[in-house]
Amino acid sequence: MKQKLAKLSEQCLADSKKAVTSEQINAVKIKYLGRNGAFSDLMKYLKDVPKEEKPEMGKLINDARVEAETVIGEIERDILKKEKEARLAAEKIDVTLPGKEVKTGGLHPLTIVRNQILDTFISMGFEVVEGPEIETDEFCFQKLNIPKDHPARDMQDTFYITDNIVLRTHTSPMQARVMESKDRKPPLRLVIPGKVYRSDDDATHSPMFQQIEGLVIDKKISLCDLKGTLEEFAKSVFSKETKVRFRPSYFPFTEPSVEVDVSCSICGGKGCRICKGTGWIEILGAGIVNPQVLINCGLDPKEYTGYAFGLGIERVTMIKYGIPDMRIFFENDERFIKLYK
Ligand code: PHE
Repeated sequence: MKQKLAKLSEQCLADSKKAVTSEQINAVKIKYLGRNGAFSDLMKYLKDVPKEEKPEMGKLINDARVEAETVIGEIERDILKKEKEARLAAEKIDVTLPGKEVKTGGLHPLTIVRNQILDTFISMGFEVVEGPEIETDEFCFQKLNIPKDHPARDMQDTFYITDNIVLRTHTSPMQARVMESKDRKPPLRLVIPGKVYRSDDDATHSPMFQQIEGLVIDKKISLCDLKGTLEEFAKSVFSKETKVRFRPSYFPFTEPSVEVDVSCSICGGKGCRICKGTGWIEILGAGIVNPQVLINCGLDPKEYTGYAFGLGIERVTMIKYGIPDMRIFFENDERFIKLYK
């Protein structure tokens, strides 16, 4: 028995030393130390050993097994280390190579400018609300003092869904919706961003574009309030030096109505190609809410007055960045979008 054990240990050591790969050493491990391996096998013969020798024999086998475990373990560690080194050497990682660029998304320039405009108004105490893009003729036109056959409808080439349902041509119907709403009572201070639709398509007009409507209803609101607020907006979105001027205009839902210009931020007002030599660029329409509109929406014009304005986000963005053609906003050309990240 002792001889058998000595031979087994010797064989095990020899086999272990021969192993050069992790697979080979693993095979040795199974062969000698596995549940049905050679050392476990030898234990079975213990029953044939005389009773008084059993404890000693058992201990000898066990010690030999522990030793075999240690030797195999050491050899295995060595082999694994060498294999890892070989793998690393073969991989040849060049840490000086440039990394792979991960593309990150960004906001569309129109969204950036929209947020900037909204932030400016929020900082002046305005609330942001949104409304439906599919509107009734009543809200899009009639409540705003644009009756059927009114020539002002020609200013806004309308996409009709049915005779009485349209894609809104401006965000102004939201003026009527919030004035009528039971959820809000004056004073009102709102900005309403959103998409609008007109049958129009060239370098400076797109069938879909975005507006921001402004509406303030309170007591004793005047054009001065409007001008001060728009000056603040123009300074924040264009530059601190930007000036604002009003020119008389006409909208059925405001009286008086104005066209609002800002001093050209490209030439500083001296006159250039962008402002067509005038030093001024038109950016929005505005005015004092027509008393008839207040009446149409259930407010008493003797108690309340207000102002409203509507600006085009595309137009503001084009002026701010000197972009000559509106269509580029909607082409999803990454080279363009990337410039404004
Ligand atoms: N709704 C007008 C337009 O789209 C702009 C406007 C809004 C004018 C509010 C006056 C007051 O042209």
